[in-house]
Amino acid sequence: MKPSNIEDAVKLLKSGQVVAFPTETVYGLGAVAFDALAVARIFEIKGRPHFDPLIVHVANAKLAFDLCQSRPSAASRLADAFWPGPLTLVLPKHPSIPDIVTAGLPSVAVRVPSHPVAQLLLAAVGVPLAAPSANRFGRVSPTTAAHVYSDLGTDVPLILDGGSCNTGIESTIVSLLRERPQLLRPGSVSLEDIQAIVGEVDSNTNSTERPQSPGQMRSHYAPRTRLEPLRGAAPPGNLERVGLLSMGPTSTSGYTAIEVLSEAGDLREAACNLFAALRRLDERHLDRIVCEFAPPHGLGNAINDRLWRGCQR
Ligand code: TXA
Ligand code: MG
Repeated sequence: MKPSNIEDAVKLLKSGQVVAFPTETVYGLGAVAFDALAVARIFEIKGRPHFDPLIVHVANAKLAFDLCQSRPSAASRLADAFWPGPLTLVLPKHPSIPDIVTAGLPSVAVRVPSHPVAQLLLAAVGVPLAAPSANRFGRVSPTTAAHVYSDLGTDVPLILDGGSCNTGIESTIVSLLRERPQLLRPGSVSLEDIQAIVGEVDSNTNSTERPQSPGQMRSHYAPRTRLEPLRGAAPPGNLERVGLLSMGPTSTSGYTAIEVLSEAGDLREAACNLFAALRRLDERHLDRIVCEFAPPHGLGNAINDRLWRGCQR
């Protein structure tokens, strides 16, 4: 990354425009969080409904807590354990944050990304950046600059290219608005890791008709091609073009395309490859894609959450 790229990004952001940038999870589409008009542009470009609030990104924990009205001790402990990194905390919001960012909620989601380019950008711009994943609403999140370009094209004046995201699945979202911490979205930091720091956590993220985290709607992360669980799926028909998304090595045949998420069966590697593999299959003009689910522990839960939502129509 050339320093001039960061300078260009800062100029654009300060003049009310949006910039796409890499984080360790997925690429974000950022605007200055205090600039309501610039934030409105994010919703417009993504085609995102205004009831779905954005995560505010800052360079360090102090700046994050400056945006919150209170800081329960669990927040400090989680911040010490996982920031900078792929964890988002939901806390009571400071009045300085425009309502458009939080969709009118009295809370704000804050996160300190660890990606060096995100850190450089946040330090240089000196203000918090509101940023959702840089994809069209409901679609697969981008883990490369090329993914961002293929989704949003010239609607975004600048995409900072920081290579492939190395965790590849979105941040874990934990709400600290109630006595007991609540998992709103499983993500790169596992539930087990969160529990090790704060004890019991409410983790029923599946009631999605009126989601606690409004972006956790049932149909999300969906490729254009129909996606269905391998278990229960019909085997490929004679003239049918079917893709297989497999967690590990497989000897199955009859598929037109197969993506193996991790030859070694490693969940971190599988999470990292998930969205790019889904996109590659989506580009093959298949009749349908069948997906194998991950073992339901650790990062497997986050992978399965994305796959399950991708399967909903
Ligand atoms: O890894 C990530 O978190 C990426 C990178 C770019 O940081 N961002 C991301 O943003 O995934 P997005 O907009 O795709 O997902 C944000 C989620 C949505 O489900 C939204 O509803 C939830 O965060 N959210 C934001 N503010 C909230 C709040 N105040 N209360 C509950 N959920 C909130
Ligand atoms: Mg998203």
